[in-house]
Amino acid sequence: MMPSKLKVLVTGPITEHAAEKLSSFAETDFYRSENKLEGQELITRLQGCDAVVCQLSGPITKDVIDHNPTLKLIANVAVGYDNIDVEEATKKEILVLNTPGVLDDATADIAFALLISTARRIVEADKFVRAGKWEGFRLDLMLGEDLAGKTVGIIGLGRIGQAFARRCLGFGMKVIYSQRNRADAKIESELNAVHVNLDELLKRSDFISIHCPLTKETTHLIDERALSLVKPGCIFVNTSRGPVVDINALIAALKNGKLYGAGLDVYEHEPEVPAELIAMNNVTLLPHIGSATEDTRKKMSELAVDGLISAFSGKAPSNIVNKTAWDAFCNRISSPTSTK
Ligand code: GLV
Repeated sequence: MMPSKLKVLVTGPITEHAAEKLSSFAETDFYRSENKLEGQELITRLQGCDAVVCQLSGPITKDVIDHNPTLKLIANVAVGYDNIDVEEATKKEILVLNTPGVLDDATADIAFALLISTARRIVEADKFVRAGKWEGFRLDLMLGEDLAGKTVGIIGLGRIGQAFARRCLGFGMKVIYSQRNRADAKIESELNAVHVNLDELLKRSDFISIHCPLTKETTHLIDERALSLVKPGCIFVNTSRGPVVDINALIAALKNGKLYGAGLDVYEHEPEVPAELIAMNNVTLLPHIGSATEDTRKKMSELAVDGLISAFSGKAPSNIVNKTAWDAFCNRISSPTSTK
């Protein structure tokens, strides 16, 4: 079924084993620069390619898709796929893959690290020691917040949200969650999780962690209105996508003391981090490393490459984002003209 000379562009680093596997299956162009590949440069480099293995930093826009008529498959080495115009890809009979299920624990670990780090002032305390300011034990030094007994509000109880909830349960917290569709009764009972609407979650939570995907509906889900509802002293964590939160509203809520602090791995205009946040002691700031462990990145690379190989071999992989494109994709790869 595979076109005779399959050409694949890989826009950023994937693990060695996955790269070797891909190279033995297709003619592969690895983009190795530190600069991200995007816009016109991406369009040009993609010319004549059948597939792209891409990263969050190089958006696969309508423009990129429309200027590359030979493109048949986009394998995103990430679970979130807001960097891809999936609607346009589907229209153009392009299959889109992502990497679900392999990064849940790593991402939940980072969300939990952000929570505990902000609650216990870990980064501030570390800086204090390094600055040589410590003069000995004091009962009133660097007092933070307890985790046990608190209510954590999880926005989006999908795979990552559930993994985060398990960690919270282990630390003695009560879990409430909001999402459009209620989770299975089995999941609710395993996590002792209570479904509430967003406003109730905002009002009742001592800690809030976001685990929903970025969509039109979730863009600025957390805005000035939402933040006006939170309990004073709440700690806010975001490891999902920056644009879910209106960064200016968040900064205002941190400045006016409504929030105790925030732990952020993602930002509205990445990699820009507002100077106001950098100047604050009560925030923990990470450079979008939710899934950044050796094992997890290995699994993500392999899942993307295995899915690509499976799809071009005519076998539907488990990680298809746009299942409705599968039949059309199969027709395209079995057709003698690769631009069809
Ligand atoms: C990372 O942010 C991902 O979506 O995998």
